[in-house]
Amino acid sequence: MHKQDIPKEQPQNTINRRSFLKTSAAAGTGLIFAPAILKQARANDSNDLNIALLGAGAQGQVLMNATLKIPGIRFKAVCDIWTDYNQTRAYRLLKKYGHDLNAYEDYKDMLANEKDLDAVIIATPDFWHAPHAVACMDAGINVYCEKEMSNTLEGARQIVRAAKRTGKLVQIGHQRRSNPRYIYCKEKLLNEAKVLGRITTINGQWNRAVQPDLGWPEKYAISTSNLKKYGFSNMLQYRNWRWYKGLGGGPIVDLGSHQIDIYNWFLDAVPKSVMASGGTDYYDKATHEWYDTVLVTFEYETAEGPVRAFYQTITTNSSQGYYENFMGDQGTLQISESAARGGVYREQSAPPWDKWVDSGILKAPVENAAQPKPGVVLDVRETVAPPKHELPVVFNDPYHKPHLENFFNSIRGKEKLNCPVEVGYETAVTVLKVNEAVKAGRRINYNPEEFKI
Ligand SMILES: NC(=O)c1ccc[n+]([C@@H]2O[C@H](COP(=O)([O-])OP(=O)(O)OC[C@H]3O[C@@H](n4cnc5c(N)ncnc54)[C@H](O)[C@@H]3O)[C@@H](O)[C@H]2O)c1
Repeated sequence: MHKQDIPKEQPQNTINRRSFLKTSAAAGTGLIFAPAILKQARANDSNDLNIALLGAGAQGQVLMNATLKIPGIRFKAVCDIWTDYNQTRAYRLLKKYGHDLNAYEDYKDMLANEKDLDAVIIATPDFWHAPHAVACMDAGINVYCEKEMSNTLEGARQIVRAAKRTGKLVQIGHQRRSNPRYIYCKEKLLNEAKVLGRITTINGQWNRAVQPDLGWPEKYAISTSNLKKYGFSNMLQYRNWRWYKGLGGGPIVDLGSHQIDIYNWFLDAVPKSVMASGGTDYYDKATHEWYDTVLVTFEYETAEGPVRAFYQTITTNSSQGYYENFMGDQGTLQISESAARGGVYREQSAPPWDKWVDSGILKAPVENAAQPKPGVVLDVRETVAPPKHELPVVFNDPYHKPHLENFFNSIRGKEKLNCPVEVGYETAVTVLKVNEAVKAGRRINYNPEEFKI
């Protein structure tokens, strides 16, 4: 496949080839379509969408598998620089599922040849998100872009600007925003019933056990010259890109951004300052340039008052896994993407929650769950643990499926994006500043203007 240049930047209302063909056909019938009517006409043609997967690694394959469970989606292309391995694996699987698609190493070739794409799912390493997303939008294609939007604020800004310039839809991959359990907590428990009272404190964590560096089958190693062409120095760095400055952001960005995004969402606020302690305490600094341990405190000023929010990510011990804990003067909400974890706990001093149980917003508390086990002596200084109300929403689908569905349905004009660029950008600003705060070793204030573009 020969190389061609990426299509040149198009002004917002420029008509691309597909729209042009449709407009010409319409003109033949004597009709002149305004862009909005044209969009509507396209949506009515068929609900099926043509998509490509750009980056078919671990997460690309998770997204591909989730998409395969969604009707009306046709994979037309897969693009990945690990041609003999990830690309081949994804290509073969999609073929097996009956998709008629092409495979590419270079995204520029894909954009030059695939003229019928409605959307691209981008799951390449973070430092590639901005060039990939911007090029796709300039080619007239809607984008699902994995978090972190970019490893730099400048990259994130480029994505926001391109979305505004092209009018294309961009969903950022903070998939909890479409998770029914999270939506229920936000809309029913926090907004409607306000069961937590005034939220004063948050803590959350993602604790992971020690993990060796990611390896690769020697016979499928990518040549050094090809790695360099795509911004990597060698196979070790290519496979473990998240630990390297200039490529990823380390665990606080990789893992923390999902959960810190929930802090902002549930508080309807962005923080005013951040303090953080972190370092590469355990692993080899040569291969783990970003911090393996980060403990961070955000300070928020919300409509109800100040909130202090703690978050930690460690990579040497998996104790208690990952969750977010929202604590108010009347109760606690624990929530996690892991379906096994989650519950609501009423403070003993809070008014009873019977009316919320009667109305079905809350489940009845689990009987005796809070009672100390027989023989356990309760210290007078301890308070009895409050009874647990299980979350009433059960969600057993692949975690990313509702977020992808929301993206596809937004392209069809049936829904609004749950995590558009502006939201992803606020989270990127919030999270990327943590690494700055670790380096600075002092409290850093956010300028409210920083969150806007
Ligand atoms: N939302 C989530 O829950 C979640 C979970 C994991 C990862 N992610 C995100 O997904 C993205 C990918 O992470 P991963 O774990 O799959 O990484 P990975 O290293 O397993 O996969 C990245 C893939 O991109 C390919 N690639 C690299 N540069 C490319 C280029 N220029 N053009 C085409 N292909 C290229 C690689 O060959 C590889 O197959 C990251 O942004 C990560 O933060 C999100």
